[in-house]
Amino acid sequence: MKIAVLKERATGETRVAATPETVKKLIALGASLAVEEGAGLAAAIADADYAAAGAEVGPVARVVADADLVMGVQAPDLAALAGAKPGAWVAATFDPFGQRERVDAYAKAGLEALAMEFMPRITRAQSMDVLSSQSNLAGYKAVIAAAHQYGRAFPMMMTAAGTITAAKCFVMGVGVAGLQAIATARRLGAQVSATDVRSATKEQIQSLGAKPIFVESVAGIEGEGSGGYATEMSEEYQKAQTELVSSHIAKQDIVITTALIPGRAAPRLISDAQIATMRPGSVIFDLAVAQGGNVEGSVPDQVVEKHGVFIMGYSNTPAHLAADASALFSRNLFNFLNAFWDKEANKPVLDAEIGDAIRLTRGGEVVSERLKG
Ligand code: NAI
Repeated sequence: MKIAVLKERATGETRVAATPETVKKLIALGASLAVEEGAGLAAAIADADYAAAGAEVGPVARVVADADLVMGVQAPDLAALAGAKPGAWVAATFDPFGQRERVDAYAKAGLEALAMEFMPRITRAQSMDVLSSQSNLAGYKAVIAAAHQYGRAFPMMMTAAGTITAAKCFVMGVGVAGLQAIATARRLGAQVSATDVRSATKEQIQSLGAKPIFVESVAGIEGEGSGGYATEMSEEYQKAQTELVSSHIAKQDIVITTALIPGRAAPRLISDAQIATMRPGSVIFDLAVAQGGNVEGSVPDQVVEKHGVFIMGYSNTPAHLAADASALFSRNLFNFLNAFWDKEANKPVLDAEIGDAIRLTRGGEVVSERLKG
Protein backbone atom coordinates (compact mmCIF):
# COMPACT_ATOMS: atom_id res chain seq x y z
CA MET A 1 0.00 0.00 0.00
CA LYS A 2 1.60 3.23 -1.12
CA ILE A 3 0.37 6.42 0.50
CA ALA A 4 1.18 9.77 -1.11
CA VAL A 5 1.13 13.06 0.79
CA LEU A 6 0.84 16.13 -1.42
CA LYS A 7 1.83 19.73 -0.91
CA GLU A 8 -1.38 21.72 -0.61
CA ARG A 9 -2.16 23.79 -3.68
CA ALA A 10 -5.08 25.96 -2.49
CA THR A 11 -4.26 29.62 -1.91
CA GLY A 12 -3.58 30.35 1.75
CA GLU A 13 -3.49 26.68 2.78
CA THR A 14 -0.56 26.19 5.13
CA ARG A 15 -1.49 22.81 6.59
CA VAL A 16 -0.24 19.38 5.60
CA ALA A 17 -2.03 16.03 5.84
CA ALA A 18 0.80 14.04 7.47
CA THR A 19 3.53 14.85 9.95
CA PRO A 20 6.72 12.88 10.66
CA GLU A 21 4.84 11.37 13.64
CA THR A 22 2.00 9.98 11.52
CA VAL A 23 4.38 8.98 8.71
CA LYS A 24 6.22 6.77 11.21
CA LYS A 25 2.96 5.30 12.49
CA LEU A 26 1.65 4.55 9.00
CA ILE A 27 4.91 2.85 8.06
CA ALA A 28 4.63 0.79 11.25
CA LEU A 29 1.20 -0.36 10.03
CA GLY A 30 2.79 -1.65 6.83
CA ALA A 31 2.37 1.22 4.35
CA SER A 32 5.07 2.91 2.33
CA LEU A 33 4.97 6.69 2.38
CA ALA A 34 5.92 9.25 -0.26
CA VAL A 35 5.81 12.97 0.54
CA GLU A 36 5.98 15.76 -2.01
CA GLU A 37 8.93 18.11 -1.64
CA GLY A 38 8.11 21.16 0.46
CA ALA A 39 4.77 19.70 1.65
CA GLY A 40 5.36 20.60 5.29
CA LEU A 41 7.32 23.83 4.97
CA ALA A 42 4.40 26.15 5.78
CA ALA A 43 3.69 24.04 8.88
CA ALA A 44 7.34 24.19 10.02
CA ILE A 45 8.18 20.64 8.91
CA ALA A 46 11.30 20.19 6.76
CA ASP A 47 11.64 17.60 4.01
CA ALA A 48 14.51 16.09 5.98
CA ASP A 49 12.13 15.41 8.91
CA TYR A 50 9.85 13.36 6.65
CA ALA A 51 12.84 11.52 5.22
CA ALA A 52 14.11 10.78 8.73
CA ALA A 53 10.68 9.35 9.57
CA GLY A 54 11.04 6.91 6.68
CA ALA A 55 9.21 8.62 3.80
CA GLU A 56 10.47 8.97 0.27
CA VAL A 57 10.54 12.70 -0.53
CA GLY A 58 10.32 13.83 -4.14
CA PRO A 59 8.49 15.73 -6.87
CA VAL A 60 4.74 15.30 -7.26
CA ALA A 61 4.83 12.93 -10.25
CA ARG A 62 7.12 10.48 -8.48
CA VAL A 63 5.21 10.71 -5.21
CA VAL A 64 1.81 10.06 -6.82
CA ALA A 65 3.03 7.35 -9.22
CA ASP A 66 1.25 4.09 -8.38
CA ALA A 67 -0.19 5.48 -5.14
CA ASP A 68 -3.09 3.52 -3.63
CA LEU A 69 -4.07 6.38 -1.36
CA VAL A 70 -3.43 10.12 -1.62
CA MET A 71 -3.87 12.19 1.53
CA GLY A 72 -4.59 15.90 1.49
CA VAL A 73 -6.00 18.61 3.72
CA GLN A 74 -8.01 20.01 0.81
CA ALA A 75 -8.73 17.65 -2.08
CA PRO A 76 -6.23 18.27 -4.88
CA ASP A 77 -7.31 19.03 -8.42
CA LEU A 78 -7.05 16.10 -10.78
CA ALA A 79 -3.92 17.44 -12.47
CA ALA A 80 -1.92 16.62 -9.35
CA LEU A 81 -3.21 13.03 -9.28
CA ALA A 82 -2.03 11.84 -12.66
CA GLY A 83 -0.27 8.49 -12.32
CA ALA A 84 -2.11 7.28 -9.21
CA LYS A 85 -3.39 3.68 -9.37
CA PRO A 86 -6.79 3.27 -11.07
CA GLY A 87 -9.46 3.49 -8.36
CA ALA A 88 -7.02 5.06 -5.89
CA TRP A 89 -8.48 6.55 -2.74
CA VAL A 90 -8.14 10.25 -1.99
CA ALA A 91 -8.75 11.10 1.68
CA ALA A 92 -9.14 14.83 2.25
CA THR A 93 -11.76 17.51 2.83
CA PHE A 94 -13.77 18.02 -0.35
CA ASP A 95 -16.27 20.79 0.44
CA PRO A 96 -18.69 18.45 -1.38
CA PHE A 97 -21.64 20.87 -1.52
CA GLY A 98 -19.55 23.91 -2.49
CA GLN A 99 -17.28 22.11 -4.99
CA ARG A 100 -19.67 19.70 -6.61
CA GLU A 101 -17.90 19.84 -10.02
CA ARG A 102 -14.73 18.54 -8.43
CA VAL A 103 -16.63 15.56 -7.00
CA ASP A 104 -18.03 14.82 -10.47
CA ALA A 105 -14.53 15.07 -11.94
CA TYR A 106 -13.21 12.58 -9.38
CA ALA A 107 -16.00 10.16 -10.31
CA LYS A 108 -15.18 10.52 -14.00
CA ALA A 109 -11.51 9.88 -13.30
CA GLY A 110 -12.45 6.64 -11.50
CA LEU A 111 -11.01 7.80 -8.17
CA GLU A 112 -12.56 7.00 -4.80
CA ALA A 113 -13.08 10.29 -2.95
CA LEU A 114 -13.32 10.02 0.85
CA ALA A 115 -14.65 13.25 2.35
CA MET A 116 -13.29 13.58 5.86
CA GLU A 117 -15.85 16.26 6.74
CA PHE A 118 -18.63 13.71 6.25
CA MET A 119 -17.30 11.56 9.11
CA PRO A 120 -20.40 10.57 11.12
CA ARG A 121 -20.74 12.02 14.60
CA ILE A 122 -20.60 8.78 16.48
CA THR A 123 -18.48 8.06 19.50
CA ARG A 124 -15.98 5.75 17.81
CA ALA A 125 -15.34 8.30 15.05
CA GLN A 126 -14.57 11.22 17.36
CA SER A 127 -10.82 10.74 17.01
CA MET A 128 -11.19 10.81 13.20
CA ASP A 129 -13.29 13.97 13.05
CA VAL A 130 -11.37 16.72 11.26
CA LEU A 131 -14.23 19.21 11.61
CA SER A 132 -13.95 19.00 15.40
CA SER A 133 -10.17 19.15 15.58
CA GLN A 134 -9.95 22.11 13.23
CA SER A 135 -12.96 23.98 14.66
CA ASN A 136 -11.52 23.73 18.12
CA LEU A 137 -8.33 25.51 17.02
CA ALA A 138 -10.36 28.00 14.97
CA GLY A 139 -12.42 28.98 18.03
CA TYR A 140 -9.22 29.66 19.95
CA LYS A 141 -7.63 31.66 17.13
CA ALA A 142 -10.74 33.79 16.58
CA VAL A 143 -10.54 35.08 20.15
CA ILE A 144 -6.79 35.66 19.95
CA ALA A 145 -7.16 37.57 16.66
CA ALA A 146 -10.04 39.64 18.05
CA ALA A 147 -8.01 40.42 21.19
CA HIS A 148 -5.12 41.55 18.99
CA GLN A 149 -7.40 43.90 17.03
CA TYR A 150 -9.11 45.25 20.16
CA GLY A 151 -7.60 48.46 21.47
CA ARG A 152 -8.37 47.58 25.08
CA ALA A 153 -7.49 44.78 27.47
CA PHE A 154 -9.59 41.65 28.12
CA PRO A 155 -9.14 41.21 31.89
CA MET A 156 -10.13 43.61 34.60
CA MET A 157 -6.97 45.30 35.85
CA MET A 158 -6.61 47.27 39.04
CA THR A 159 -3.64 49.55 38.69
CA ALA A 160 -2.26 52.57 40.55
CA ALA A 161 -3.58 54.67 37.68
CA GLY A 162 -7.07 53.31 38.08
CA THR A 163 -9.19 50.33 37.14
CA ILE A 164 -9.72 48.90 33.67
CA THR A 165 -13.00 47.03 33.29
CA ALA A 166 -13.13 43.53 31.81
CA ALA A 167 -14.11 43.17 28.15
CA LYS A 168 -17.57 41.76 27.46
CA CYS A 169 -17.46 38.93 24.94
CA PHE A 170 -20.49 37.33 23.28
CA VAL A 171 -20.16 34.00 21.45
CA MET A 172 -22.90 33.16 18.94
CA GLY A 173 -23.08 29.49 18.00
CA VAL A 174 -21.81 27.08 20.65
CA GLY A 175 -20.54 24.07 18.74
CA VAL A 176 -16.95 22.95 18.92
CA ALA A 177 -15.51 26.33 17.86
CA GLY A 178 -17.87 28.29 20.09
CA LEU A 179 -17.05 26.23 23.18
CA GLN A 180 -13.34 26.81 22.64
CA ALA A 181 -13.97 30.51 22.00
CA ILE A 182 -15.81 30.75 25.34
CA ALA A 183 -13.01 28.93 27.16
CA THR A 184 -10.31 31.10 25.56
CA ALA A 185 -12.10 34.39 26.23
CA ARG A 186 -12.64 33.30 29.85
CA ARG A 187 -8.94 32.42 30.21
CA LEU A 188 -8.09 35.91 28.98
CA GLY A 189 -10.33 37.37 31.66
CA ALA A 190 -13.34 38.55 29.65
CA GLN A 191 -16.94 38.45 30.88
CA VAL A 192 -18.46 35.93 28.52
CA SER A 193 -22.01 35.24 27.35
CA ALA A 194 -23.15 32.90 24.59
CA THR A 195 -26.14 31.75 22.57
CA ASP A 196 -27.19 28.89 20.30
CA VAL A 197 -30.36 27.45 18.80
CA ARG A 198 -29.75 24.02 20.36
CA SER A 199 -31.00 23.82 23.96
CA ALA A 200 -28.30 21.29 24.98
CA THR A 201 -25.67 24.02 24.76
CA LYS A 202 -27.18 25.97 27.68
CA GLU A 203 -25.61 23.69 30.26
CA GLN A 204 -22.32 23.57 28.36
CA ILE A 205 -22.16 27.37 28.39
CA GLN A 206 -22.81 27.46 32.12
CA SER A 207 -20.25 24.76 32.82
CA LEU A 208 -17.60 26.97 31.22
CA GLY A 209 -18.55 29.86 33.51
CA ALA A 210 -20.32 31.91 30.85
CA LYS A 211 -23.86 33.29 30.77
CA PRO A 212 -26.42 31.72 28.39
CA ILE A 213 -28.51 34.19 26.37
CA PHE A 214 -31.41 32.29 24.83
CA VAL A 215 -34.60 32.97 22.91
CA GLU A 216 -37.32 31.82 25.31
CA SER A 217 -40.50 32.88 23.50
CA VAL A 218 -40.08 30.49 20.51
CA ALA A 219 -38.87 26.88 20.75
CA GLY A 220 -35.38 26.27 19.40
CA ILE A 221 -33.87 22.88 18.61
CA GLU A 222 -34.46 20.38 21.41
CA GLY A 223 -31.33 18.85 22.89
CA GLU A 224 -28.36 18.34 20.58
CA GLY A 225 -30.25 18.39 17.28
CA SER A 226 -29.49 15.76 14.65
CA GLY A 227 -25.86 14.66 15.06
CA GLY A 228 -25.18 17.93 16.86
CA TYR A 229 -26.03 19.91 13.73
CA ALA A 230 -28.50 22.77 13.50
CA THR A 231 -31.13 23.29 10.81
CA GLU A 232 -32.52 26.51 9.41
CA MET A 233 -34.80 28.21 11.96
CA SER A 234 -38.38 29.41 11.40
CA GLU A 235 -39.05 33.06 10.56
CA GLU A 236 -40.68 33.47 13.96
CA TYR A 237 -37.55 32.19 15.69
CA GLN A 238 -35.30 34.40 13.60
CA LYS A 239 -37.37 37.47 14.54
CA ALA A 240 -37.19 36.65 18.24
CA GLN A 241 -33.44 36.02 17.93
CA THR A 242 -32.92 39.39 16.21
CA GLU A 243 -34.71 41.19 19.05
CA LEU A 244 -32.73 39.35 21.70
CA VAL A 245 -29.41 39.97 19.98
CA SER A 246 -30.22 43.64 19.39
CA SER A 247 -30.65 44.34 23.07
CA HIS A 248 -27.58 42.31 24.09
CA ILE A 249 -25.09 43.24 21.41
CA ALA A 250 -25.11 46.97 22.14
CA LYS A 251 -23.39 46.19 25.45
CA GLN A 252 -20.68 43.88 23.99
CA ASP A 253 -17.06 44.68 23.17
CA ILE A 254 -16.17 41.46 21.36
CA VAL A 255 -18.51 39.21 19.39
CA ILE A 256 -17.42 35.85 17.98
CA THR A 257 -19.88 34.24 15.56
CA THR A 258 -19.55 30.56 14.63
CA ALA A 259 -23.03 29.55 13.41
CA LEU A 260 -23.12 27.04 10.56
CA ILE A 261 -25.76 24.82 8.97
CA PRO A 262 -24.35 21.90 6.96
CA GLY A 263 -24.93 22.23 3.23
CA ARG A 264 -26.39 25.73 3.56
CA ALA A 265 -25.11 29.29 3.58
CA ALA A 266 -24.31 30.42 7.12
CA PRO A 267 -27.28 32.05 8.88
CA ARG A 268 -27.16 35.86 9.07
CA LEU A 269 -27.02 36.74 12.78
CA ILE A 270 -25.87 40.36 12.93
CA SER A 271 -27.12 43.23 10.78
CA ASP A 272 -25.49 46.54 9.98
CA ALA A 273 -28.10 48.32 12.13
CA GLN A 274 -27.08 46.16 15.11
CA ILE A 275 -23.39 46.87 14.51
CA ALA A 276 -24.18 50.59 14.62
CA THR A 277 -25.35 50.22 18.25
CA MET A 278 -21.98 48.86 19.41
CA ARG A 279 -19.28 50.93 21.06
CA PRO A 280 -16.57 52.18 18.64
CA GLY A 281 -13.47 50.01 18.88
CA SER A 282 -15.50 46.83 19.42
CA VAL A 283 -14.49 43.79 17.38
CA ILE A 284 -16.63 41.17 15.64
CA PHE A 285 -14.88 38.01 14.43
CA ASP A 286 -17.00 36.11 11.89
CA LEU A 287 -15.80 32.50 11.85
CA ALA A 288 -18.43 31.70 9.20
CA VAL A 289 -17.15 34.35 6.78
CA ALA A 290 -16.04 31.76 4.21
CA GLN A 291 -19.50 30.13 4.22
CA GLY A 292 -21.32 33.39 3.45
CA GLY A 293 -20.88 35.04 6.84
CA ASN A 294 -22.96 35.46 10.00
CA VAL A 295 -22.27 39.19 9.99
CA GLU A 296 -23.44 41.77 7.45
CA GLY A 297 -20.43 43.36 5.77
CA SER A 298 -17.79 40.82 6.76
CA VAL A 299 -15.18 40.12 4.07
CA PRO A 300 -12.79 37.14 4.17
CA ASP A 301 -9.27 38.09 5.28
CA GLN A 302 -10.03 41.78 5.71
CA VAL A 303 -10.63 44.00 8.70
CA VAL A 304 -13.66 46.10 7.71
CA GLU A 305 -14.45 49.15 9.84
CA LYS A 306 -18.17 49.98 10.07
CA HIS A 307 -19.57 52.55 12.52
CA GLY A 308 -16.18 52.42 14.27
CA VAL A 309 -16.54 48.66 14.82
CA PHE A 310 -13.98 46.24 13.36
CA ILE A 311 -15.45 43.26 11.50
CA MET A 312 -13.01 40.50 10.64
CA GLY A 313 -12.74 36.82 9.72
CA TYR A 314 -10.37 34.51 7.94
CA SER A 315 -11.17 32.42 4.89
CA ASN A 316 -9.25 29.55 6.50
CA THR A 317 -8.81 30.01 10.24
CA PRO A 318 -7.02 26.71 11.05
CA ALA A 319 -4.39 27.66 8.44
CA HIS A 320 -3.36 30.43 10.85
CA LEU A 321 -2.21 27.72 13.29
CA ALA A 322 -0.52 25.54 10.68
CA ALA A 323 1.65 23.38 12.92
CA ASP A 324 -1.00 22.43 15.48
CA ALA A 325 -3.76 22.19 12.89
CA SER A 326 -1.59 19.83 10.80
CA ALA A 327 -0.68 17.74 13.84
CA LEU A 328 -4.35 17.21 14.72
CA PHE A 329 -5.57 16.79 11.14
CA SER A 330 -2.92 14.18 10.38
CA ARG A 331 -3.72 12.31 13.61
CA ASN A 332 -7.39 12.26 12.57
CA LEU A 333 -6.35 10.69 9.26
CA PHE A 334 -4.07 8.20 10.99
CA ASN A 335 -6.77 7.24 13.51
CA PHE A 336 -9.15 6.67 10.60
CA LEU A 337 -6.75 4.44 8.63
CA ASN A 338 -5.56 2.62 11.73
CA ALA A 339 -9.11 1.79 12.85
CA PHE A 340 -9.81 0.02 9.55
CA TRP A 341 -6.37 -1.42 8.79
CA ASP A 342 -6.59 -5.04 7.71
CA LYS A 343 -3.24 -6.71 8.44
CA GLU A 344 -3.66 -9.50 5.88
CA ALA A 345 -4.75 -7.23 3.06
CA ASN A 346 -2.17 -4.64 4.19
CA LYS A 347 -4.65 -1.84 3.56
CA PRO A 348 -7.68 -0.30 5.23
CA VAL A 349 -11.03 -2.02 4.67
CA LEU A 350 -13.91 0.30 5.55
CA ASP A 351 -17.16 -0.80 7.18
CA ALA A 352 -20.53 0.34 5.85
CA GLU A 353 -21.39 2.84 8.59
CA ILE A 354 -18.32 5.01 8.10
CA GLY A 355 -17.45 3.99 4.52
CA ASP A 356 -20.88 4.86 3.13
CA ALA A 357 -20.95 8.12 5.06
CA ILE A 358 -17.66 9.50 3.75
CA ARG A 359 -17.38 7.91 0.28
CA LEU A 360 -18.38 10.39 -2.42
CA THR A 361 -17.37 8.51 -5.55
CA ARG A 362 -16.66 4.93 -6.56
CA GLY A 363 -16.51 2.99 -9.84
CA GLY A 364 -17.04 6.11 -11.92
CA GLU A 365 -20.20 7.20 -10.05
CA VAL A 366 -21.13 9.71 -7.38
CA VAL A 367 -22.36 7.38 -4.61
CA SER A 368 -22.88 9.70 -1.60
CA GLU A 369 -26.52 9.76 -0.46
CA ARG A 370 -26.06 13.32 0.82
CA LEU A 371 -25.08 14.50 -2.66
CA LYS A 372 -27.85 12.57 -4.39
CA GLY A 373 -30.59 13.77 -2.04
P1 NAI B 1 -21.45 23.60 13.40
O1 NAI B 1 -20.08 24.05 13.04
O2 NAI B 1 -22.28 22.93 12.37
O3 NAI B 1 -22.27 24.88 13.92
C1 NAI B 1 -21.78 25.70 14.95
C2 NAI B 1 -22.88 26.05 15.93
O4 NAI B 1 -23.76 27.03 15.35
C3 NAI B 1 -23.76 24.87 16.34
O5 NAI B 1 -23.72 24.73 17.73
C4 NAI B 1 -25.15 25.27 15.83
O6 NAI B 1 -26.18 24.79 16.66
C5 NAI B 1 -25.05 26.79 15.86
N1 NAI B 1 -26.06 27.51 15.07
C6 NAI B 1 -26.58 27.20 13.85
N2 NAI B 1 -27.49 28.12 13.48
C7 NAI B 1 -27.55 29.05 14.49
C8 NAI B 1 -28.30 30.24 14.69
N3 NAI B 1 -29.19 30.68 13.79
N4 NAI B 1 -28.12 30.94 15.84
C9 NAI B 1 -27.21 30.49 16.77
N5 NAI B 1 -26.48 29.39 16.62
C10 NAI B 1 -26.65 28.67 15.50
O7 NAI B 1 -21.40 22.68 14.69
P2 NAI B 1 -20.18 21.86 15.31
O8 NAI B 1 -19.31 22.75 16.05
O9 NAI B 1 -19.52 21.09 14.21
O10 NAI B 1 -20.84 20.79 16.29
C11 NAI B 1 -22.01 20.96 17.00
C12 NAI B 1 -22.14 19.84 18.06
O11 NAI B 1 -22.03 18.54 17.49
C13 NAI B 1 -21.07 19.84 19.13
O12 NAI B 1 -21.30 20.76 20.13
C14 NAI B 1 -21.15 18.42 19.65
O13 NAI B 1 -22.14 18.30 20.63
C15 NAI B 1 -21.55 17.64 18.46
N6 NAI B 1 -20.40 16.86 17.94
C16 NAI B 1 -20.34 15.51 18.14
C17 NAI B 1 -19.26 14.77 17.66
C18 NAI B 1 -19.20 13.29 17.86
O14 NAI B 1 -19.95 12.74 18.63
N7 NAI B 1 -18.32 12.59 17.12
C19 NAI B 1 -18.14 15.41 16.95
C20 NAI B 1 -18.31 16.85 16.78
C21 NAI B 1 -19.39 17.51 17.26
